[in-house]
Amino acid sequence: MFSFNKLTVFATALAASSVVLATPASVKKRAALDVFVPPITSPVAGDVWVVGQQKNVTWDTSNAPAHITNPIGQILLAKGGPITGDVLADGFDILIGSIEVTVPDVVDGDDYAIILLGDASNYSPEFTITHSA
Ligand SMILES: *[C@@H]1O[C@H](CO)[C@@H](O)[C@H](O)[C@H]1NC(C)=O
Repeated sequence: MFSFNKLTVFATALAASSVVLATPASVKKRAALDVFVPPITSPVAGDVWVVGQQKNVTWDTSNAPAHITNPIGQILLAKGGPITGDVLADGFDILIGSIEVTVPDVVDGDDYAIILLGDASNYSPEFTITHSA
């Protein structure tokens, strides 16, 4: 059921970065393809999430194009880079900009990140998940 893999994340990140590196003229052209990579605004680096808590994941939708290829979002968890397999939310409209998730019961660590999937994948900064409040 879960066919997404690290290679896909890397390829998508590579595609996104080539947009950034492109000349202004080709950026305009690519923008017409409507790849929407909304920056995650929460969690931020250094945040501490406690297992079982409700947390809002938020992202900036202000640069959303008129037509988004894949408007259905999914929020995954990564630890130290690779995806853990925990799906924190899915099936939501990528334009809502915020969704409440429950912190999953995972091992303590300070190298967790949220991945927001829609058109493209976007990693949050690393933050901590712990069992002790
Ligand atoms: C998430 O955001 C909604 C809307 O602003 C708010 O009502 C809710 O209390 C927030 N949840 C948490 C866990 O902060």
